Amino acid sequence: MRTTVGIIGAGPAGLLLARLLHRSGIDCVVLEARTREYVEHRQRAGMLEQGTVDALREAGAADRLNVEGLVHQGIELRFDRERHHIDFPTLTGGRTVTIYAQTEIVKDLVALQLADGPPLLFEAEALAIEKPDSDTPVVRFLHEGREQTLTCDWVAGCDGFHGICREAVPAAAGRAYAHDYPYSWLGILADVAPSCEELVYARGENGFALHSMRSTRVSRLYLQVPNDTDPDDWPDDRVWDELAARFAVDADWTLRRGPITAKSVTPMRSYVHEPMRHGRLLLAGDAAHIVPPTGAKGLNLAVSDIRVLARAFTELHRSGSEQLLDDYSRVCLSRVWQATRFSYEMTKMLHAQPDGDAFESRLQLARLRRITASRHAAAELAANYTGLPLMI
Ligand code: FAD
Ligand code: DHB
Repeated sequence: MRTTVGIIGAGPAGLLLARLLHRSGIDCVVLEARTREYVEHRQRAGMLEQGTVDALREAGAADRLNVEGLVHQGIELRFDRERHHIDFPTLTGGRTVTIYAQTEIVKDLVALQLADGPPLLFEAEALAIEKPDSDTPVVRFLHEGREQTLTCDWVAGCDGFHGICREAVPAAAGRAYAHDYPYSWLGILADVAPSCEELVYARGENGFALHSMRSTRVSRLYLQVPNDTDPDDWPDDRVWDELAARFAVDADWTLRRGPITAKSVTPMRSYVHEPMRHGRLLLAGDAAHIVPPTGAKGLNLAVSDIRVLARAFTELHRSGSEQLLDDYSRVCLSRVWQATRFSYEMTKMLHAQPDGDAFESRLQLARLRRITASRHAAAELAANYTGLPLMI
């Protein structure tokens, strides 16, 4: 098989790139290791920056998002049993965020892709990228029980953090920067109306909790837990009791409980691979970088990489110029590092230190007080949370 852009991975990054290339008349093929059912039901992110919503609209993939997405004007910070609203439109000149699940974005993009192409192969696992620094890199992949090859002009490595594309970059040609955190998140999905109108980020004395949602009838909540926590050690009543304790405030507020339909533990890590290009292989999204979820940046960064990449391929197709492809890694990394910094700061500000460091705990409260007391500090949080510009 031969194509212009071989795309590895049908997560949000790979699927969106395929749509944008298709709209620019650029030929591509998407290879996805898992089944359609699996990728459409993998529970992950849910908070979309305005730029992400714009990109999905530009790709013609926002019909359902426009109807079902929940537009939020801000978030709530909870600490010391107090509630503080951070109002995005007044702090950012009108910006908002939208709640719409990653599972739904993937379903929308898969449906469009299968309806009018280009090819998207499920259960097609890329095994290796050969000659990524030549003019015709080759992807070896396993599909329908036999090994096949896809010869490309370019390869987009959109295969997530555990994919194989990053490994195709020789150690001497790149460098990774990583930071591990001493805690994880236990995430649940529950069939119960959200107990809040906007997302609540709570610093409880026993640790962090986040109240998010998927719709007016489904809640998504997260709880800081120790690394290597087994979800089976958290029966439903224990989850709800701990969430209720961490969200507790002096004001009149109660956490609604309901049947839990999914429960999983996610470790937290910051990781950036530089550069995001090796020869004709371009890494995008989680394949190149991951952040802890506290700032809700993972999915949004994947989408902003793809906006830059799609623009670069379109320019090459239109004018023959490789300038934007040459700029790709530098342009993306500047935004990636800003999101890495923000996610790190949000994480450190809101999670309990497992060693119970009292000095660190007081600093956390001082940071939170500063945000709620100073318009400048609140505006800085709002600007980062709603999304920095594409070119920074
Ligand atoms: P992915 O969504 O990981 O997609 C990569 C795709 O490549 C997958 O479909 C995979 O099956 C496929 N693939 C892998 N290897 C191969 C191969 N060899 N051949 C072919 N295909 C392959 N972000 C938030 O903002 N908030 C959250 O709450 C949040 N929760 C998360 C929970 C978990 C468990 C994880 C792992 C991530 C979470 N994230 C969250 C991050 C966010 O979901 C990711 O940043 C986002 O999915 C990145 O999209 P992507 O397309 O780059 O990668
Ligand atoms: C969600 C996840 C996050 O990590 C976050 O910061 C906000 C929302 C979510 O899954 O809805």
